[in-house]
Parts: sequence; structure tokens; C-alpha cells
Amino acid sequence: MSDNKNNLIYILNGPNLNLLGTREVDIYGETTLADLQEISSAKASECGYACDFRQTNTEGELVDWIQEGGRSAAGIIINAAAYTHTSVAIHDAIAAIDVPVIEVHLSNIFAREDYRHHSFVSDVSAGVICGFGANGYKLAVTALADLLQQGS
Ligand code: DQA
Repeated sequence: MSDNKNNLIYILNGPNLNLLGTREVDIYGETTLADLQEISSAKASECGYACDFRQTNTEGELVDWIQEGGRSAAGIIINAAAYTHTSVAIHDAIAAIDVPVIEVHLSNIFAREDYRHHSFVSDVSAGVICGFGANGYKLAVTALADLLQQGS
């Protein structure tokens, strides 16, 4: 397959996920962002997709990438990290695009502090995967690939 909108998925990661591997290892484990990229790309390619895997600490950049994904990708997987719980702008960007979005979190946000229980991403996403660590990224790729196959 050629690398076009039809077989390209975006995997977008928000603030502090660049620190994975050393950040709160008891919660997030020792998997680094580079490991997550490798795991996700391998699963995506098994499913027939290429993935554009990115991380930023900036809310506006995530908004720009969501808009770009709406034009250039078949679907988006997003771990908006702390912006999940605060960002109306990210909610609105996802609501504005027509491609499916899957929300992913490494930790089980519902088993953590109350302020992590609300997500501005969930109600505009096709589904949410959380609490499975790095495996969640694989599950998200599989789920998105399945969704896209159903829709095609
Ligand atoms: C996270 C959960 C968020 O609550 C937190 O702010 C993160 C990471 C996760 O992947 O478990 O930075 O999105």
C-alpha cells in the first residue's frame, strides 16, 4: 500500500510523555516514548497501516496536529496526557474533524485522582483504552484498524 491518507494513522502524544521511562515509573512503567513508537509502528504495519508518531508539550501544537490529521490521516490515536483533563480546545479540534479518534492512556485514569476522572477527549472519541500500559497503544492501533476496515 502506498503512504496516503487511506493507510496513514497519526499517534499523538501530549505533555510529559517525552519523559516516559524515568517519569513516575511506579505509574507509567519503564517503557520509553521511543519504545511506544516502535511497538505502535510494528502493530500498525501488521494491520497494513503506516503511523506518524509525535509528541509535544504544547496544547496548540496538539490542536494543529489534530486538524492536520483530519486532512491527512485515516484516523488518530491520542494520548493528550494532562490536557485530557483540561483542554476544551482539544475537544473542539476533535469534534471538528471527520476521521475516527481513539483515546489512549497508559494508566487507569479512573483508579487515580478525581481530577483525572473527567476527559474532554472521551465524548468526541470512538472509544477509550486505558490502564493497560504500553499494550494499550497496540490495542488502540488494532481497534482503529478494525474501525477503518468496517468503514471502508
Ligand atoms: C496519562 C494520564 C494523565 O492523567 C496524565 O496527566 C498523563 C498520562 C496516561 O497515559 O496514563 O500525563 O495520559
